[in-house]
Amino acid sequence: MNSYNYEGFVLLKLKKKIKNEFEPNILVFCCNWCSYAGADLAGVSRFQYPPNIRIIRVMCSSRVDPIFVLRAFNNGIDGVLIIGCHMGDCHYMKGFEYTQTRMSHLKNLIKYIGIEEDRFQLHSISASEGKQFAELIKDFTKKIIEFGELKIPKKPGIFELDYIVKLNRTREL
Ligand code: FES
Repeated sequence: MNSYNYEGFVLLKLKKKIKNEFEPNILVFCCNWCSYAGADLAGVSRFQYPPNIRIIRVMCSSRVDPIFVLRAFNNGIDGVLIIGCHMGDCHYMKGFEYTQTRMSHLKNLIKYIGIEEDRFQLHSISASEGKQFAELIKDFTKKIIEFGELKIPKKPGIFELDYIVKLNRTREL
């Protein structure tokens, strides 16, 4: 992000804060080989999308431990996206399949905790899908704005988020 864009971004955040508009914080995990290249293409092609996202590049979507997602929610992130390659295109053969299986379990856990399950989504974007990347970010941001700020329900017991994060309970997922 160059300094001009950064200043614009800070100004936009300030304006929204003054107007009391909700500004969601969104975390996006992109795999190195497809979706990160798709995000890059969106930038190079100047496709516009909301500046609310922070991208973390991982070598494969299967590198994302479910505990990373729970930690993000516990630390005030309002929505988390994992974007990998299309099925069959994963650089590590079965990486995306593993991600799908783990993340479907994680979605159930998120539901049990009491967080709207759509705050967490898994998608596929190829290196040539810059436009689709921008559209996905727009749609997801819209959804998170509709949900509003994440408020984690305080349910004592095994499904309390704090408890799971501290124990790294998702290791078995
Ligand atoms: S390399 Fe993209 S999902 Fe595995």
